[in-house]
Amino acid sequence: MNLLQLLRQRLRDALVPLTPEPENFVDMLRPAGDTRFGDFQANCAMPMQKSVGKPAREIAEQIVQGLKIDDICEPATVAGPGFINLKLKESWLEQAATECAHDVQLGLEPASPSRRYIVDFSSPNVAKPMHVGHLRSTVIGHALYKVLKKLGHSVQSDNHIGDWGTQFGMIIFGYKNFRHEKAFEAAPVAELARLYRLVNQLSDYHALKSTFSEIEARVPTATKSLAEAQEQLTYAAKSGVKKSPELQQQVKKAEAELKEATEALESATKKITAVESDPELLEIAAKHPRIAEEARLETAKLHAGDPENLALWNQFLPDCLKALEGLYARFDLKFDMTLGESWYNPMLPGVLERLEKARLLTTSQGAQCVFIEGYEAPFIVRKSDGAFTYATTDLATIEYRVDSLQADAILYVVDSRQSEHFDMLFATARKLGYSNVELTHVKFGTILGEDKRPFKTRSGDTVGLESLLDEAVVRARQIVNAGDDGKPTGAELDDTTRQAIAEIVGIGGIIYADLHHSRESDYTFSFEKMLATRGDTATYMQYAYARTHGIFRKGGIDIEQLRKGKHPLRLTQPYERMLALQLVRFGEALHDVAAEYRPNVLTQYLFETANRFSTFFDECPVLKETDDSIRNSRLLLCDWTARVMKEGLGLLGIRVAEKM
Ligand code: ARG
Repeated sequence: MNLLQLLRQRLRDALVPLTPEPENFVDMLRPAGDTRFGDFQANCAMPMQKSVGKPAREIAEQIVQGLKIDDICEPATVAGPGFINLKLKESWLEQAATECAHDVQLGLEPASPSRRYIVDFSSPNVAKPMHVGHLRSTVIGHALYKVLKKLGHSVQSDNHIGDWGTQFGMIIFGYKNFRHEKAFEAAPVAELARLYRLVNQLSDYHALKSTFSEIEARVPTATKSLAEAQEQLTYAAKSGVKKSPELQQQVKKAEAELKEATEALESATKKITAVESDPELLEIAAKHPRIAEEARLETAKLHAGDPENLALWNQFLPDCLKALEGLYARFDLKFDMTLGESWYNPMLPGVLERLEKARLLTTSQGAQCVFIEGYEAPFIVRKSDGAFTYATTDLATIEYRVDSLQADAILYVVDSRQSEHFDMLFATARKLGYSNVELTHVKFGTILGEDKRPFKTRSGDTVGLESLLDEAVVRARQIVNAGDDGKPTGAELDDTTRQAIAEIVGIGGIIYADLHHSRESDYTFSFEKMLATRGDTATYMQYAYARTHGIFRKGGIDIEQLRKGKHPLRLTQPYERMLALQLVRFGEALHDVAAEYRPNVLTQYLFETANRFSTFFDECPVLKETDDSIRNSRLLLCDWTARVMKEGLGLLGIRVAEKM
C-alpha cells in the first residue's frame, strides 16, 4: 500500500484538464501538518494561479470537483486562500488497517520495475584495524541494501576492500624486520596491526624530523602576522574608523593560522617525543632512516609479482578478512561479494586499452590521464612510474558490474570527501559508453568529537571501531541493569541474557545515532545522547517494542493465536486512528528511503510511530477494555506496531529484544 502515491495519482487525474504539467504540482499533496483539518492537504492551487489565470480559491474548487476519491476520502473541502483538505473515510481506513495488520508483508507493495542494484559499502583498506571512519559507510550501506531488497529489487552487497595498497608494503616490511614471532602465532591480525602502526609511526617520525624547523618557524611567523594585523586594527580605530571588516577579517585569519601552527607544532613534538623517549623505537628509527621508501619498495615488489611478497600477502589476507568478518558479525552483516582491489588487478591493462581506443587518454607529465570538462585536475589512470591507480580500479569495477553482473544501478556509499573522484569516475564511465547504468555516490559527512573536530581519542589517535562498539555495550549494560526510568523491567533476567541485550542496545544505539542524521551532515558522537531512554534513539524504540510484548505477557495473551482470528481493526478513538494511519504508511516510508537513498526517512518514520504508540497506549486501555471486539482490535494494534518496529529497525540493522 502506498496511500500517498494513490492520492497523488487521483490528484494528477484531476489536474489534467487544468494544466499541461500536472507532474509539477502533484507533490504538493502531503500529509497534513495540522490533523484537525484532515489527514492530507494539497497546496497546489496557489502556485497554479499564474498559469491558469484564475484566483487560487476558484482553482481549488475546480480541482475538488474533478477529484475522484470518494472510495477513499470524505468529500474534499477548500479552506483559506485555496488549501484542499482530505480526510480519509473511517470505513476505508479500518479496512486498510485490517488488511495491513493481517498481512505478513505489513501492506508493503514491491517496487516496480524491480532493478538490479550493486551496493558498494564499508570497503575499508584492510591490514590496518577498522576505525570510526568506517562506521558510516558500513551502517548506511547496510540499511540501504536491506531496504532495497525488501522492496523487491535484486540487490548485491559488495565490500570493495583495499587489499592491494601501500599498507601491504608496510606490513610486509614490518613483518620481515620487526615481527614478534610468538605474538604473530597467537594473534596474527593484532601483530600485523602493531607492525602497521610501527612502520607508520617511524615514517611519520622521519618526515616530521626533516621538516621540523619549518613546522617550528610557522609559529613566530604567525605570531608576528597576528601582531601586525592587530596593530593595524588599533591604528584604524584610533584614526576614527569605526568599522573595518577587512582588517577584522585579517585578524581572524591570522588567529586561525596561529592556532593551526601551534597545533601542528604540538602534534609534531608529541610524535617525535613518543619515538625519542623509547630507546627501542629510537634504535629502529636510527637503523631505518628511509623506512617509508623501504616500505614502498616492498609494495612495488608485490605488485611486480615477487614470489616472497606474494606469498606473504596470500598468507596475511585470509587473517585480515577473518577479523573483518568478526566485526561485521556484530552488525549482523554478511556481504554477498568481497571483490577487493586486488581482484581487479588483472583487468587494469584492458581498461587502459579501452580508454586509448575511445581516444580519452592524454599524457601529462609522464602520467596517463583523462581530462574532464569542468575539472582542472586530471583523472590519472596510470602514474609516471607505470602504476595503476584507485581510479583505474574503479573503472574496472564499473565494467565488471555492468558487463558481467548486469547492474542497472551502482551505489557507492563513500565519504563526501571523495566526491570529486566519483564525479570524474562517472563522467569517464559515461564517455566509455556506460550511459544507461545509474551511478550514484551516496555521500556522507564526518563524525566529530565533542570538540567539533574529526573524532579522535584523547591522545589524538583514530578511534578503533571495535573498541567503540565495546564501550557502547558496556554503557548499555548499565541501562539494562537499571531498566526503563530506573524501574528494573528486566529484573528477572539472568546475566547472559542481560549481556546479550546490552549488545543489542549498545550496537543498535550506535547504528541509529548515525542513521538518524541527514547523511550529508557531520555529526557529533555522544554515547550519552545515543543511549538515552527517551527521545529519538534506538533505546527508546527498543523499549517501545519490549513494552508491547510486556502487554501480551501481562495479559497472558497468545498473540499468534489472536492473529489467526483475523479480527477486524476498529478505530473508535482518535489515537487509535492516528496510530493506524501511521502504520498503514510503512511501505510508503520504505519507498521514500529508496527514492534518495536516505535511511533517516525510516528513522523519522519509526520515531513518529513509537510516539503515536506511546500516546495511544496512555489514552486507550488495552487489557482493561471490556468490549471484546475493541480489546482484540487494540491488542492487534499493539502487535502490528511491534511488527512494524521490529521490521523497520531490522532493515536499519538494529535488533530488538522482547524483554529489556
Ligand atoms: N577503500 C576506499 C577507502 O578506504 C573506499 C572504497 C570505496 N569504494 C570504491 N569503489 N571506491 O577510501
